[in-house]
Amino acid sequence: MKKVEIHPEAVERVKKFVLPDTNLAFGKHVAPVMIEAIYDNGEWQRFDLLPYGPIALDPCTKVLHYGQEIFEGMKAFRQPNDQIAMFRPEQNARRFNQSARRMSMPEIPEAQFLNACDVITAYCKNLVPRRLGESLYLRPFMIATEVGLGIKPSKQFLFVIIASPSGAYFSGDSVKVYIERDDIRAAHGGIGFAKTGGNYAASLQSYTRTTQAGCDQTLWLDESHQYVEEMSGMNFMAIIDGELHTPEMTDTILDGITRKSILELARHENIKVVETKLPIDKLLQDIVSGKCTEAFVCGTASVICPISSFLDKNGRVYEVKDGNGKISMQLREKLIGIQSGRNDGPQGWMHPVKEILF
Ligand code: COI
Repeated sequence: MKKVEIHPEAVERVKKFVLPDTNLAFGKHVAPVMIEAIYDNGEWQRFDLLPYGPIALDPCTKVLHYGQEIFEGMKAFRQPNDQIAMFRPEQNARRFNQSARRMSMPEIPEAQFLNACDVITAYCKNLVPRRLGESLYLRPFMIATEVGLGIKPSKQFLFVIIASPSGAYFSGDSVKVYIERDDIRAAHGGIGFAKTGGNYAASLQSYTRTTQAGCDQTLWLDESHQYVEEMSGMNFMAIIDGELHTPEMTDTILDGITRKSILELARHENIKVVETKLPIDKLLQDIVSGKCTEAFVCGTASVICPISSFLDKNGRVYEVKDGNGKISMQLREKLIGIQSGRNDGPQGWMHPVKEILF
């Protein structure tokens, strides 16, 4: 494994950084350091901890034209003993490499990925917020850096990790959802399961429709326009007849780490989990009849956030009747309790970050 070279200026910068004592929001503040690694000649050449700063790219760089890019989102939490621990980072390492394979990009050995995350987190120890629900959000990403306009996989890549002391993704307590009946986000055989910028870019036109309609998140249907898939940046779940229903995994859906953690916690709490094809029209009927008592979004950034209503194309609004969020809030508290170290979770979920003195 390549050692991360620590640049003295990065250490000076991080020592001087003062964490704002305000509502942090999501992705608004950024740590003054970043990890950079270069891939060339068929291997990862070096890993460095550098001062945070712009990345200069030749205008012909492949990522700028063909979107050969992947990323991850993961969190480090301050524990009651003041140590720092990451939530299931090995899952992010694995998913990063799955995305890399789909996008014809080089994998990073999992141990190397984890070590780079450990190093930036250890140097950012003082930037990990203390308040419950806040965390240091890590954003590892990789871009194709070969210069040239030919459409072919790049031979050179840049891997970067930036870090953001963050609070809640949504400013409100619940979200309003816009059902996207026209566009689709992903198709079988495509890149829907990969965490790559193109999937998020494909959602932006609908983001505008969504917000213009007074909603917060877009709900995507499958290519037949019948079944619920996911939201633009998070997975979808509903409580129907007291059971936890969520779309079954396909190659069109992002395999959320929060999603799979919630399903595990729910099973542990004896809540029946149903991973299935979820027809949108049936879901709306169940909301009207009161069989569906809760719906929520879940993801690394958003954790768990209840859905208060769905807006359909014909202008009809479906309010989630009960909407007391009993089960979703119970799962949320469990998850936050584990992440913040206040409750024990399944073995191996929290990854302690070894302290580095600097
Ligand atoms: C995450 O939850 O970490 C995501 O990647 C979603 C997002 C904010 C893009």
